[in-house]
Amino acid sequence: MPAIEIFDPMRPDVLKDPYPAYRALRRHRPVAELEPLGIWVVSRYADAQRVLGDPEGFSAALAFGKDATLLDDRGPVRRQLNLKFAGDAGGVVSSSDGEVHARLRRTVARLLSKPRLDVVEPAIGAHAHGVIAALAARGEHVDIVGDLAKPVAAQSIGALMELPDNVVRVLAGWADLTARALDPGDELSSVAAGPRVMRSNLASFRAVTAFLNAAARAAPGGPSGTAGSGLAGSWREADTPAAREEVILAVLQLFQAGYETIVSAVCHLMAAFVIDRPRPPGFPSGPDLSGALIEEGLRLASPVRATLRTAVGPRTVGDVQVPAGARLMVLIGSANRDERVFEEPGTALAGRRPAHLAFGAGPHRCLGRMLAHTELRYIVGALATAGAQVSSVAGARVSANILKAGYEYLPVRVAWR
Ligand code: HEM
Repeated sequence: MPAIEIFDPMRPDVLKDPYPAYRALRRHRPVAELEPLGIWVVSRYADAQRVLGDPEGFSAALAFGKDATLLDDRGPVRRQLNLKFAGDAGGVVSSSDGEVHARLRRTVARLLSKPRLDVVEPAIGAHAHGVIAALAARGEHVDIVGDLAKPVAAQSIGALMELPDNVVRVLAGWADLTARALDPGDELSSVAAGPRVMRSNLASFRAVTAFLNAAARAAPGGPSGTAGSGLAGSWREADTPAAREEVILAVLQLFQAGYETIVSAVCHLMAAFVIDRPRPPGFPSGPDLSGALIEEGLRLASPVRATLRTAVGPRTVGDVQVPAGARLMVLIGSANRDERVFEEPGTALAGRRPAHLAFGAGPHRCLGRMLAHTELRYIVGALATAGAQVSSVAGARVSANILKAGYEYLPVRVAWR
Protein backbone atom coordinates (compact mmCIF):
# COMPACT_ATOMS: atom_id res chain seq x y z
CA MET A 1 0.00 0.00 0.00
CA PRO A 2 1.40 3.47 -0.81
CA ALA A 3 2.66 5.04 2.41
CA ILE A 4 0.60 8.18 1.85
CA GLU A 5 -2.56 6.10 2.11
CA ILE A 6 -1.45 5.12 5.60
CA PHE A 7 -0.22 8.53 6.73
CA ASP A 8 -1.08 11.69 4.84
CA PRO A 9 0.45 14.66 6.71
CA MET A 10 -1.74 17.08 4.77
CA ARG A 11 -4.95 15.63 6.22
CA PRO A 12 -6.08 17.38 9.40
CA ASP A 13 -8.13 14.36 10.53
CA VAL A 14 -4.99 12.20 10.42
CA LEU A 15 -2.95 14.83 12.29
CA LYS A 16 -5.54 15.16 15.03
CA ASP A 17 -5.01 11.53 16.02
CA PRO A 18 -1.95 10.24 14.16
CA TYR A 19 -1.24 7.28 16.46
CA PRO A 20 -3.09 4.56 14.49
CA ALA A 21 -1.36 5.73 11.29
CA TYR A 22 2.02 5.86 13.02
CA ARG A 23 1.52 2.27 14.20
CA ALA A 24 0.67 1.10 10.69
CA LEU A 25 3.68 2.93 9.24
CA ARG A 26 6.04 1.38 11.79
CA ARG A 27 4.69 -2.01 10.89
CA HIS A 28 4.36 -1.85 7.12
CA ARG A 29 6.35 1.11 5.76
CA PRO A 30 8.81 2.26 8.45
CA VAL A 31 10.88 4.33 6.01
CA ALA A 32 8.89 5.40 2.99
CA GLU A 33 8.38 8.15 0.48
CA LEU A 34 5.06 9.99 0.61
CA GLU A 35 4.33 10.48 -3.06
CA PRO A 36 3.44 12.97 -4.52
CA LEU A 37 4.50 15.27 -1.63
CA GLY A 38 8.21 14.64 -2.20
CA ILE A 39 8.91 13.85 1.43
CA TRP A 40 9.94 10.69 3.28
CA VAL A 41 8.77 9.52 6.69
CA VAL A 42 10.86 7.74 9.33
CA SER A 43 8.67 6.21 12.01
CA ARG A 44 10.65 3.71 14.10
CA TYR A 45 12.69 4.63 17.18
CA ALA A 46 16.01 3.16 15.99
CA ASP A 47 15.78 4.83 12.57
CA ALA A 48 14.76 8.20 14.03
CA GLN A 49 17.67 8.03 16.45
CA ARG A 50 20.06 7.12 13.64
CA VAL A 51 18.98 10.06 11.43
CA LEU A 52 19.05 12.62 14.26
CA GLY A 53 22.39 11.28 15.48
CA ASP A 54 24.17 11.59 12.11
CA PRO A 55 24.47 15.32 11.29
CA GLU A 56 27.03 14.66 8.54
CA GLY A 57 24.64 12.35 6.73
CA PHE A 58 21.45 14.30 7.37
CA SER A 59 21.47 18.08 7.26
CA ALA A 60 19.26 20.36 9.35
CA ALA A 61 20.43 23.42 7.38
CA LEU A 62 19.16 22.00 4.09
CA ALA A 63 15.94 20.74 5.65
CA PHE A 64 14.92 24.09 7.18
CA GLY A 65 16.80 26.39 4.79
CA LYS A 66 15.98 28.10 1.53
CA ASP A 67 13.15 26.47 -0.48
CA ALA A 68 12.01 24.40 2.51
CA THR A 69 8.33 24.17 1.71
CA LEU A 70 5.80 21.41 1.40
CA LEU A 71 3.58 21.97 -1.60
CA ASP A 72 0.31 20.12 -2.05
CA ASP A 73 -1.59 20.56 -5.31
CA ARG A 74 -4.07 17.74 -4.81
CA GLY A 75 -7.03 19.60 -3.35
CA PRO A 76 -9.13 22.51 -4.56
CA VAL A 77 -6.99 24.81 -2.37
CA ARG A 78 -3.25 24.90 -3.12
CA ARG A 79 -1.39 24.43 0.15
CA GLN A 80 2.17 25.54 0.76
CA LEU A 81 3.51 24.86 4.24
CA ASN A 82 6.57 26.96 4.90
CA LEU A 83 9.14 24.87 6.75
CA LYS A 84 11.94 27.38 6.41
CA PHE A 85 13.43 28.80 9.58
CA ALA A 86 16.60 30.51 8.41
CA GLY A 87 17.59 33.99 7.37
CA ASP A 88 18.91 35.03 4.00
CA ALA A 89 22.33 35.62 5.54
CA GLY A 90 22.30 34.83 9.26
CA GLY A 91 22.03 31.36 10.73
CA VAL A 92 19.69 29.82 13.27
CA VAL A 93 20.77 27.17 15.73
CA SER A 94 18.15 24.58 14.79
CA SER A 95 18.66 25.16 11.07
CA SER A 96 22.43 24.97 10.81
CA ASP A 97 25.11 22.31 10.60
CA GLY A 98 28.73 21.78 11.62
CA GLU A 99 30.82 24.64 12.97
CA VAL A 100 28.13 27.28 12.45
CA HIS A 101 25.74 25.16 14.50
CA ALA A 102 28.32 24.61 17.26
CA ARG A 103 28.97 28.37 17.51
CA LEU A 104 25.26 29.29 17.59
CA ARG A 105 24.51 26.52 20.06
CA ARG A 106 27.14 27.82 22.50
CA THR A 107 25.47 31.24 22.51
CA VAL A 108 21.96 29.88 23.03
CA ALA A 109 23.20 27.42 25.67
CA ARG A 110 24.48 30.38 27.73
CA LEU A 111 21.03 31.90 27.69
CA LEU A 112 19.45 28.64 28.82
CA SER A 113 22.16 27.75 31.36
CA LYS A 114 21.46 26.80 34.98
CA PRO A 115 22.73 30.14 36.41
CA ARG A 116 20.48 32.09 34.04
CA LEU A 117 17.50 29.87 34.86
CA ASP A 118 18.14 30.34 38.59
CA VAL A 119 17.78 34.08 38.02
CA VAL A 120 14.57 33.75 36.01
CA GLU A 121 12.85 30.98 37.98
CA PRO A 122 11.21 33.26 40.61
CA ALA A 123 9.64 35.32 37.79
CA ILE A 124 8.29 32.14 36.16
CA GLY A 125 6.80 30.99 39.46
CA ALA A 126 5.30 34.44 40.08
CA HIS A 127 3.73 34.53 36.59
CA ALA A 128 2.20 31.09 37.02
CA HIS A 129 0.78 31.87 40.47
CA GLY A 130 -0.44 35.31 39.36
CA VAL A 131 -2.31 33.91 36.35
CA ILE A 132 -3.84 31.13 38.43
CA ALA A 133 -4.91 33.51 41.21
CA ALA A 134 -6.64 35.72 38.62
CA LEU A 135 -8.41 32.68 37.16
CA ALA A 136 -9.56 31.54 40.60
CA ALA A 137 -11.05 34.99 41.21
CA ARG A 138 -12.86 34.81 37.87
CA GLY A 139 -14.78 31.57 38.32
CA GLU A 140 -14.73 27.87 37.62
CA HIS A 141 -14.46 27.84 33.81
CA VAL A 142 -10.92 27.83 32.43
CA ASP A 143 -9.47 27.27 28.97
CA ILE A 144 -6.11 25.67 29.67
CA VAL A 145 -4.73 26.88 26.32
CA GLY A 146 -5.70 30.54 26.22
CA ASP A 147 -6.18 31.34 29.91
CA LEU A 148 -3.22 29.51 31.38
CA ALA A 149 -0.61 27.85 29.14
CA LYS A 150 -0.15 30.61 26.56
CA PRO A 151 0.13 33.56 28.95
CA VAL A 152 2.55 31.79 31.28
CA ALA A 153 4.67 30.29 28.47
CA ALA A 154 4.93 33.67 26.72
CA GLN A 155 5.80 35.54 29.91
CA SER A 156 8.39 32.91 30.89
CA ILE A 157 10.30 32.98 27.63
CA GLY A 158 9.91 36.76 27.64
CA ALA A 159 11.45 36.93 31.13
CA LEU A 160 14.36 34.79 30.01
CA MET A 161 15.17 37.22 27.19
CA GLU A 162 14.09 40.33 29.15
CA LEU A 163 11.51 41.23 26.50
CA PRO A 164 9.04 44.00 27.34
CA ASP A 165 5.34 43.09 27.40
CA ASN A 166 4.54 44.76 24.07
CA VAL A 167 7.19 42.62 22.30
CA VAL A 168 5.96 39.47 24.07
CA ARG A 169 2.48 40.23 22.74
CA VAL A 170 3.70 40.70 19.15
CA LEU A 171 5.78 37.52 19.27
CA ALA A 172 2.98 35.44 20.82
CA GLY A 173 0.64 36.61 18.04
CA TRP A 174 3.27 35.80 15.44
CA ALA A 175 3.96 32.33 16.92
CA ASP A 176 0.21 31.56 16.96
CA LEU A 177 -0.12 32.64 13.36
CA THR A 178 2.90 30.68 12.10
CA ALA A 179 1.56 27.59 13.93
CA ARG A 180 -1.73 27.95 12.07
CA ALA A 181 0.18 28.27 8.79
CA LEU A 182 1.56 24.75 9.42
CA ASP A 183 -1.94 23.32 9.84
CA PRO A 184 -3.13 22.01 6.47
CA GLY A 185 -6.76 22.54 7.48
CA ASP A 186 -6.27 26.22 8.24
CA GLU A 187 -6.80 28.95 5.67
CA LEU A 188 -3.37 30.35 6.60
CA SER A 189 -1.67 27.30 5.06
CA SER A 190 -2.95 28.14 1.59
CA VAL A 191 -0.63 29.62 -1.02
CA ALA A 192 -3.00 32.60 -1.14
CA ALA A 193 -2.37 33.40 2.55
CA GLY A 194 1.40 33.75 1.97
CA PRO A 195 1.43 37.60 2.07
CA ARG A 196 -0.44 37.66 5.40
CA VAL A 197 2.09 35.30 6.99
CA MET A 198 4.90 37.39 5.52
CA ARG A 199 3.48 40.57 7.06
CA SER A 200 3.41 38.90 10.48
CA ASN A 201 7.05 37.82 10.01
CA LEU A 202 8.01 41.40 9.19
CA ALA A 203 6.13 42.79 12.20
CA SER A 204 7.95 40.37 14.50
CA PHE A 205 11.30 41.31 12.91
CA ARG A 206 10.57 44.99 13.48
CA ALA A 207 9.46 44.50 17.09
CA VAL A 208 12.61 42.52 17.92
CA THR A 209 14.87 45.05 16.19
CA ALA A 210 13.31 47.92 18.15
CA PHE A 211 13.71 45.96 21.38
CA LEU A 212 17.39 45.18 20.66
CA ASN A 213 18.14 48.81 19.76
CA ALA A 214 16.54 50.01 22.98
CA ALA A 215 18.29 47.34 25.06
CA ALA A 216 21.69 48.18 23.55
CA ARG A 217 21.16 51.90 24.26
CA ALA A 218 20.04 51.22 27.83
CA ALA A 219 23.02 49.04 28.73
CA PRO A 220 26.02 50.30 26.79
CA GLY A 221 29.48 48.71 27.08
CA GLY A 222 30.53 45.30 28.38
CA PRO A 223 31.00 42.05 26.48
CA SER A 224 28.01 39.95 25.50
CA GLY A 225 26.80 37.22 27.78
CA THR A 226 28.16 38.67 31.00
CA ALA A 227 24.92 39.99 32.43
CA GLY A 228 21.20 39.53 31.94
CA SER A 229 20.23 37.76 28.77
CA GLY A 230 23.38 39.00 26.96
CA LEU A 231 21.25 39.92 23.95
CA ALA A 232 22.05 43.63 24.19
CA GLY A 233 25.76 42.85 24.08
CA SER A 234 25.36 40.47 21.13
CA TRP A 235 23.40 43.16 19.29
CA ARG A 236 26.06 45.80 19.93
CA GLU A 237 28.80 43.49 18.69
CA ALA A 238 26.86 42.53 15.54
CA ASP A 239 28.54 44.75 12.96
CA THR A 240 27.29 43.21 9.70
CA PRO A 241 23.78 42.68 8.34
CA ALA A 242 24.30 38.91 8.62
CA ALA A 243 25.37 39.17 12.27
CA ARG A 244 22.39 41.38 13.08
CA GLU A 245 20.01 39.00 11.36
CA GLU A 246 21.50 36.20 13.42
CA VAL A 247 20.64 37.93 16.72
CA ILE A 248 17.09 38.78 15.58
CA LEU A 249 16.49 35.21 14.43
CA ALA A 250 17.88 33.84 17.70
CA VAL A 251 15.24 35.82 19.62
CA LEU A 252 12.48 34.68 17.27
CA GLN A 253 13.53 31.08 17.35
CA LEU A 254 13.89 30.94 21.11
CA PHE A 255 10.48 32.48 21.52
CA GLN A 256 8.88 30.00 19.17
CA ALA A 257 10.80 27.00 20.55
CA GLY A 258 9.95 27.92 24.13
CA TYR A 259 6.33 28.91 23.60
CA GLU A 260 4.51 26.37 21.42
CA THR A 261 6.20 23.36 22.99
CA ILE A 262 5.29 24.43 26.52
CA VAL A 263 1.69 25.21 25.59
CA SER A 264 1.41 21.78 24.02
CA ALA A 265 3.09 19.99 26.92
CA VAL A 266 0.92 21.73 29.55
CA CYS A 267 -2.24 20.65 27.72
CA HIS A 268 -1.14 17.07 27.21
CA LEU A 269 0.06 16.67 30.80
CA MET A 270 -3.19 18.10 32.09
CA ALA A 271 -5.22 15.84 29.81
CA ALA A 272 -3.22 12.73 30.69
CA PHE A 273 -2.63 13.13 34.40
CA VAL A 274 -4.75 15.85 35.96
CA ILE A 275 -8.16 16.36 34.34
CA ASP A 276 -10.64 13.80 35.74
CA ARG A 277 -7.82 11.42 36.43
CA PRO A 278 -6.05 9.86 39.34
CA ARG A 279 -2.26 9.63 39.09
CA PRO A 280 -1.19 6.43 37.27
CA PRO A 281 0.23 3.66 39.45
CA GLY A 282 3.99 3.76 40.03
CA PHE A 283 4.25 7.55 40.17
CA PRO A 284 4.19 9.65 43.37
CA SER A 285 0.79 11.14 44.13
CA GLY A 286 0.11 14.74 45.17
CA PRO A 287 -0.37 17.92 43.19
CA ASP A 288 3.23 18.28 41.97
CA LEU A 289 4.25 16.52 38.80
CA SER A 290 7.46 14.57 39.31
CA GLY A 291 10.19 14.82 36.69
CA ALA A 292 9.52 11.17 35.78
CA LEU A 293 5.83 11.82 35.16
CA ILE A 294 6.61 14.85 32.99
CA GLU A 295 9.06 12.75 30.96
CA GLU A 296 6.53 9.98 30.48
CA GLY A 297 3.89 12.53 29.47
CA LEU A 298 6.24 13.96 26.85
CA ARG A 299 6.91 10.49 25.49
CA LEU A 300 3.21 9.68 25.24
CA ALA A 301 2.25 12.92 23.47
CA SER A 302 5.43 14.47 22.12
CA PRO A 303 4.91 18.23 21.56
CA VAL A 304 7.41 18.23 18.67
CA ARG A 305 5.80 15.39 16.76
CA ALA A 306 8.14 15.63 13.78
CA THR A 307 11.33 17.30 12.66
CA LEU A 308 13.10 17.41 9.32
CA ARG A 309 16.45 16.48 7.84
CA THR A 310 17.77 16.28 4.28
CA ALA A 311 20.02 13.39 3.17
CA VAL A 312 23.31 14.88 1.95
CA GLY A 313 24.10 11.79 -0.17
CA PRO A 314 22.58 8.36 -0.80
CA ARG A 315 21.96 6.85 2.64
CA THR A 316 20.53 3.69 4.16
CA VAL A 317 17.88 4.13 6.83
CA GLY A 318 16.63 0.85 8.29
CA ASP A 319 16.55 -1.43 5.25
CA VAL A 320 15.71 1.32 2.81
CA GLN A 321 17.95 3.21 0.38
CA VAL A 322 17.25 6.91 0.54
CA PRO A 323 18.50 9.04 -2.37
CA ALA A 324 20.69 12.14 -2.04
CA GLY A 325 18.56 15.21 -1.37
CA ALA A 326 15.66 13.21 0.11
CA ARG A 327 13.75 15.24 2.69
CA LEU A 328 13.00 13.14 5.75
CA MET A 329 10.20 13.83 8.19
CA VAL A 330 11.39 12.14 11.37
CA LEU A 331 8.23 11.20 13.28
CA ILE A 332 9.29 11.67 16.89
CA GLY A 333 5.71 11.08 18.09
CA SER A 334 5.78 7.69 16.39
CA ALA A 335 9.29 6.73 17.51
CA ASN A 336 8.23 7.39 21.10
CA ARG A 337 5.46 4.85 20.79
CA ASP A 338 7.53 2.20 19.03
CA GLU A 339 6.49 -1.17 20.44
CA ARG A 340 9.94 -2.55 19.54
CA VAL A 341 11.35 -0.34 22.28
CA PHE A 342 8.52 0.54 24.69
CA GLU A 343 6.33 -2.18 26.13
CA GLU A 344 2.65 -1.11 26.19
CA PRO A 345 3.63 2.11 24.39
CA GLY A 346 0.29 3.87 24.94
CA THR A 347 0.40 3.48 28.74
CA ALA A 348 2.20 5.65 31.30
CA LEU A 349 4.76 3.47 33.08
CA ALA A 350 7.39 4.60 35.56
CA GLY A 351 11.10 3.95 34.96
CA ARG A 352 11.07 3.60 31.16
CA ARG A 353 14.31 2.83 29.38
CA PRO A 354 15.72 3.82 26.94
CA ALA A 355 15.17 7.57 26.96
CA HIS A 356 12.40 8.91 24.77
CA LEU A 357 13.16 11.20 21.83
CA ALA A 358 10.71 14.00 22.71
CA PHE A 359 13.64 16.39 23.18
CA GLY A 360 15.33 15.05 20.04
CA ALA A 361 18.70 13.29 19.87
CA GLY A 362 22.21 14.02 18.63
CA PRO A 363 23.77 17.47 18.31
CA HIS A 364 20.46 19.34 17.97
CA ARG A 365 18.98 17.87 21.16
CA CYS A 366 16.79 20.44 22.89
CA LEU A 367 18.59 23.15 24.84
CA GLY A 368 15.44 24.14 26.71
CA ARG A 369 14.94 20.90 28.68
CA MET A 370 15.68 22.43 32.07
CA LEU A 371 13.50 25.46 31.40
CA ALA A 372 10.72 23.19 30.15
CA HIS A 373 10.73 21.13 33.35
CA THR A 374 10.73 24.27 35.51
CA GLU A 375 7.78 25.78 33.66
CA LEU A 376 5.78 22.57 33.58
CA ARG A 377 6.25 21.98 37.28
CA TYR A 378 5.09 25.51 38.07
CA ILE A 379 2.15 25.69 35.68
CA VAL A 380 0.63 22.26 36.16
CA GLY A 381 1.66 22.02 39.82
CA ALA A 382 0.26 25.45 40.73
CA LEU A 383 -3.08 24.69 39.11
CA ALA A 384 -3.30 21.26 40.72
CA THR A 385 -2.52 22.80 44.11
CA ALA A 386 -5.02 25.63 43.75
CA GLY A 387 -7.81 23.51 42.35
CA ALA A 388 -9.08 20.63 44.44
CA GLN A 389 -10.55 19.11 41.33
CA VAL A 390 -10.07 19.78 37.64
CA SER A 391 -12.77 18.17 35.52
CA SER A 392 -13.38 18.01 31.82
CA VAL A 393 -15.89 20.04 29.86
CA ALA A 394 -17.06 19.14 26.37
CA GLY A 395 -15.64 20.98 23.37
CA ALA A 396 -11.85 20.44 23.49
CA ARG A 397 -10.22 20.98 20.08
CA VAL A 398 -6.94 19.36 19.09
CA SER A 399 -4.81 21.20 16.54
CA ALA A 400 -3.51 19.70 13.31
CA ASN A 401 -0.05 21.21 12.91
CA ILE A 402 2.31 18.97 10.95
CA LEU A 403 5.31 19.52 13.23
CA LYS A 404 3.75 20.19 16.63
CA ALA A 405 1.08 18.34 18.60
CA GLY A 406 -1.20 20.55 20.63
CA TYR A 407 -4.61 21.83 21.55
CA GLU A 408 -6.42 24.89 20.21
CA TYR A 409 -8.86 24.86 23.09
CA LEU A 410 -8.99 22.79 26.27
CA PRO A 411 -11.89 23.82 28.51
CA VAL A 412 -12.06 22.55 32.09
CA ARG A 413 -14.04 23.22 35.24
CA VAL A 414 -11.93 23.90 38.32
CA ALA A 415 -13.24 23.59 41.85
CA TRP A 416 -10.89 26.05 43.55
CA ARG A 417 -9.77 25.22 47.07
C1 HEM B 1 8.39 20.24 26.51
C2 HEM B 1 8.97 21.21 25.87
C3 HEM B 1 9.94 21.02 24.72
C4 HEM B 1 10.07 20.00 23.83
C5 HEM B 1 9.26 18.72 23.75
C6 HEM B 1 11.16 20.35 22.93
C7 HEM B 1 11.60 19.56 21.88
C8 HEM B 1 12.69 19.84 21.08
C9 HEM B 1 13.20 19.00 20.03
C10 HEM B 1 12.59 17.67 19.59
C11 HEM B 1 14.29 19.59 19.52
C12 HEM B 1 15.19 19.04 18.40
C13 HEM B 1 14.68 19.40 17.04
C14 HEM B 1 15.53 18.82 15.93
O1 HEM B 1 16.37 17.95 16.15
O2 HEM B 1 15.32 19.23 14.78
C15 HEM B 1 14.47 20.84 20.21
C16 HEM B 1 15.47 21.74 19.94
C17 HEM B 1 15.58 22.96 20.57
N1 HEM B 1 14.83 23.42 21.62
FE1 HEM B 1 13.31 22.47 22.52
N2 HEM B 1 11.65 21.56 23.30
C18 HEM B 1 10.94 22.01 24.39
C19 HEM B 1 11.12 23.20 25.06
C20 HEM B 1 12.06 24.14 24.76
C21 HEM B 1 12.22 25.40 25.46
C22 HEM B 1 11.39 25.86 26.65
C23 HEM B 1 13.24 26.05 24.85
C24 HEM B 1 13.79 27.38 25.22
C25 HEM B 1 13.48 28.46 24.73
C26 HEM B 1 13.73 25.21 23.76
C27 HEM B 1 14.76 25.51 22.93
C28 HEM B 1 15.27 24.68 21.95
C29 HEM B 1 16.37 25.05 21.08
C30 HEM B 1 17.16 26.34 21.11
C31 HEM B 1 16.58 23.96 20.21
C32 HEM B 1 17.60 23.86 19.08
C33 HEM B 1 18.85 23.13 19.53
C34 HEM B 1 19.83 22.92 18.39
O3 HEM B 1 19.42 22.94 17.23
O4 HEM B 1 21.02 22.71 18.67
N3 HEM B 1 12.99 24.06 23.74
N4 HEM B 1 13.49 20.97 21.17
